[in-house]
Amino acid sequence: MNAAALAAAVPGNAASAHARGVFLFHPTITRGARIGPGKGPVMKALRWYGKQDVRVETVPDPTILHPQDAILKVTACAICGSDLHLYDGMIPTMEKGDILGHEFMGVVVETGPEVQGLSIGDRVVVPFNIACGRCFFCKNQMFSLCDNSNPNAHMAESAYGYSPSGLFGYSHLFGGYAGGQAEYVRVPFADVGGFKVPEGMSDEQVLFLGDIFPTGYMAAENCNIVPGDTVAVWGCGPVGLFAIKSAYMLGARQVVGIDRYPERLEKARVDCGATIINYEHSNVLEALKELTQGRGPDSCIDAVGMEAHGVGLEFWYDRIKQAVMAQTDRPTAFREIIKACRKGGAVSVPGVYGGFIDKFPLGAAFNKGLTLRMGQTHTHRYMRGLCERIMAGEIDPSFVISHRMSLDEAPQGYDMFVHKTAGCIKVFITP
Ligand SMILES: NC(=O)c1ccc[n+]([C@@H]2O[C@H](COP(=O)([O-])OP(=O)(O)OC[C@H]3O[C@@H](n4cnc5c(N)ncnc54)[C@H](O)[C@@H]3O)[C@@H](O)[C@H]2O)c1
Ligand SMILES: [Zn+2]
Ligand SMILES: [Zn+2]
Repeated sequence: MNAAALAAAVPGNAASAHARGVFLFHPTITRGARIGPGKGPVMKALRWYGKQDVRVETVPDPTILHPQDAILKVTACAICGSDLHLYDGMIPTMEKGDILGHEFMGVVVETGPEVQGLSIGDRVVVPFNIACGRCFFCKNQMFSLCDNSNPNAHMAESAYGYSPSGLFGYSHLFGGYAGGQAEYVRVPFADVGGFKVPEGMSDEQVLFLGDIFPTGYMAAENCNIVPGDTVAVWGCGPVGLFAIKSAYMLGARQVVGIDRYPERLEKARVDCGATIINYEHSNVLEALKELTQGRGPDSCIDAVGMEAHGVGLEFWYDRIKQAVMAQTDRPTAFREIIKACRKGGAVSVPGVYGGFIDKFPLGAAFNKGLTLRMGQTHTHRYMRGLCERIMAGEIDPSFVISHRMSLDEAPQGYDMFVHKTAGCIKVFITP
C-alpha cells in the first residue's frame, strides 16, 4: 500500500491537517506489516454500535502509523462521564465499530523511530487530548486546542469556526482516533502525551491524571478562588468530586456539592469535606443563599454538562426540546448556575457541551457581571504538578473508584454508570 492509499484508509486523515504541514503518516510504515505486540494480530476492544450499545470484540492490533507514535499495552482504563454522552448517542459523527476510551494508561511495547523520551517497558499515563507540543496553542499550554492533532479539522471548523485538538475515542469530529478501552492503543505524539509514572505508584493512584483529576483541578482554577471563598459545584460525579477537592486545595473556605444521588452526595461530604444539597429535596438557590449570608457563591462549577437532569417544568422543557432536536444540549444545571452565582462571580464549566442550547440567560450573566470560563481540559499542563500532590500524600485519586472490572465486563460498567445503579461512581477497568 502506498502512502496515499494508506492515508486514505486511515479514519480521519484529512486535507485540512495536511494544509498546515502536518505529516500524519510515515510513507515507509505500512499498516499490518507487523505482528501485534505480544499477543498476535488480534486484541479485545470495546466498540460503539449505537445508542446504549457497546460490545467487546476482537479487532486488529494497532500499529505505528507515524514515527512519533507509540503503542501501549493498556494496563488500566476507565469510563468517563464524557463517554456517557457517546453512549447516549449525543455526539454526532460516531461510526459503528469505533473503539471508545480516553482515560487509560499502560506499558510502552513499541515506539516509532522518532520517539525519543519513551522506551519499551516504560509505564505511562496518557492525556485524553492529543497534542503536538509545537503549535501556537501547545506552546502556550492550551493543549486541548492543539492545531495539529485533529485530522478531521475541517468538520470541526465548519461547526465551531476553528478545530480543537483530536481526542482519543471521541467521534470523527474529534479525529476518529481509536480509544484505550482496549488491550492495546496507538498514542500519537507519544513524547508529548506519555507521562512517565514515578516508581512505586499504582495504576489506581495515577490513572485519573489523564482526565478527571486535571479536569476537576482546572475547573477550580478557572474560578479564580481567593482564600475564604465559597464555591458551589453542580454534579458530584467523579469530575465534581475532584473539583471539590481542588477548590479546597486552591483556598476555598466552603465548598458546596449539589446532586441527587445519596451515595455521591455522601462521597462529597465525607471524602471531600463539602456541604451538600440534594436538589430533589431542597430549593438550590435558597439553600445557597442561606449558606452565603444571602450573597450567593463566589464561584460556581458546572460538572454536569449536556445531559443534566432536574426537577420541574424547565427540565421537561429541555428534555423535550432535546428529543425533538430543537436543541442539542440540556442546560438545566447551567441556567440554575447563572442565577445562583453571586454578582461579579465566576462560572466555570468543565461539563461537556457539544452544540446549541435554548434560553441561555445571557441577560442575567451580563447584568450580574459574571465571568464565564470553560473548555476541554489542558490535561498535559497539570499532570506533573498533580502527580506531585499525589506523591506528597495530599490526595489519593482512587477514592472515586466504586467498581473494578475486566474489559469483558465493561458493557455492564457502562450500563451501571449511565443509570447510576449499584452505587456506581467510577468504573476502573483492567483489560
Ligand atoms: N472539560 C473536560 O475536559 C471534561 C473531562 C472529563 C469529563 N467532562 C465532563 O464532565 C461532566 C461530568 O463528568 P462525570 O464523569 O462526573 O459524570 P457523571 O455522569 O458521573 O456525573 C454527573 C453528575 O451530575 C449530576 N447532575 C445531573 N443533573 C444535575 C443538576 N441539575 N444539578 C446538579 N447535579 C446534577 C448527576 O446526578 C451526576 O451525579 C460530563 O459532562 C463530562 O463529559 C469534561
Ligand atoms: Zn473524559
Ligand atoms: Zn499543538
